[in-house]
Amino acid sequence: MQNPIILALDLPDAASALALAQQVAPCVGAFKVGSELFTAAGPDFVRRLRETLVPVFLDLKFHDIPNTVAKAVASAVRLDVQMLTIHTGGGLEMMRAAEQSAAETSAALNRPPPLVLGVTVLTSMNGAGLEQLGCGSDVGKHVERLAALAAQAGLRGLVCSPLEIQRLRELLPHSMQLVTPGIRLGDEKADDQKRTLSARAAIDAGANWLVIGRPIYAAPQPAEAARRILASLTT
Ligand code: C5P
Repeated sequence: MQNPIILALDLPDAASALALAQQVAPCVGAFKVGSELFTAAGPDFVRRLRETLVPVFLDLKFHDIPNTVAKAVASAVRLDVQMLTIHTGGGLEMMRAAEQSAAETSAALNRPPPLVLGVTVLTSMNGAGLEQLGCGSDVGKHVERLAALAAQAGLRGLVCSPLEIQRLRELLPHSMQLVTPGIRLGDEKADDQKRTLSARAAIDAGANWLVIGRPIYAAPQPAEAARRILASLTT
């Protein structure tokens, strides 16, 4: 089994994120770099992170015209990231352009293509918020619509909430990789996460990857916390 734990490096600066990454590298399957850290520390930080040899997930949620997204994806591939996110709300053509750019740029560099992950409806959005955008008020239906469009565009992965895994597994090709945040072990506080599952329950429901932040980086011993979560998946 691959290690499905993606540690969210939700820290404000490169020094603390690198110190954490070096400590936890043997116990996780990937590191996630989001917009806070990337905007502060930049591509150089990602290159230094890759020196740990742990795969990197660049979570910048690209959403722009297809040509611009294709070029942003190409830049991410040149940074040697193994996963990245785009907004499915950018539409079919944008998603196709992202996937094509990932395939072509990585082929030119003789590397495996990164997993381009589609983000559907942000979990901070509820029915009323969606309605304001003219997308109807049924969040579940809109997630399904965007997920089906992502599959049609050829995306090979999606980010989804723990509570969407089961429905998306019924709807999508089996090969679709599902990446799920909102993981809590049950013995710690949920922080601001409202819809959570344990790591084991998320994997059992059909998730391929688990994005985990505070339960690891805010633990007294982060590497030990990651090891404990990993052990919970196999016992
Ligand atoms: O600390 P915690 O485990 O809640 O961190 C979860 C990570 O997953 C954070 O980086 C957060 O931004 C991200 N995320 C999320 N919910 C989403 C999408 C991403 O919590 N729907």
